[in-house]
Amino acid sequence: MKQRPTLTWMAGVALGFVVLFQGMPSASAGPISPEIKEIYGKDCKKCHGWDGAADTAMGKKLKMSSFTSADFQKKIKDDAIAKAILEGWTDPNDPKRKMKAYKDHISEAQAKELVKVVRAFAKSPGPFPGEK
Ligand code: HEC
Repeated sequence: MKQRPTLTWMAGVALGFVVLFQGMPSASAGPISPEIKEIYGKDCKKCHGWDGAADTAMGKKLKMSSFTSADFQKKIKDDAIAKAILEGWTDPNDPKRKMKAYKDHISEAQAKELVKVVRAFAKSPGPFPGEK
């Protein structure tokens, strides 16, 4: 059984890497591509904020809910998130609380990636750690 120590050593190194990568902030939120981050920064951040909490001037003005809320995450379906992005959303009780449609420059595939972004706000530190 001469090979044992080598194998154990290799397994140890492999495990080390797994632990290392899981400890990195981006791993817990899943991979968000630079392209999707740019879209969020350009189209969504000014109201929803980098942290998804809508702690912005627009967020306050429009009384927006936070993507970090467990209640919000539980109530909304993936399809509804994608639909709000592509086709827009208006509060039936208050037409001022609305969001425009983005399908003129956001594709369905990109909207699906944005669904992942919205979901990632549920977990700390969210999809864009360190952005303010
Ligand atoms: C002009 C401000 C504004 C911008 C920009 C904006 N939103 Fe919104 N968004 C709102 C408001 C207002 C609501 C409804 C209130 C709430 O639930 O927070 C909303 C709601 C949502 C919802 C929940 C819809 C529902 O059915 O409850 C999602 C998901 C969402 N936005 C994603 C995005 C994404 C992704 C972007 C960028 C592509 C974006 N928003 C850009 C204002 C905005």
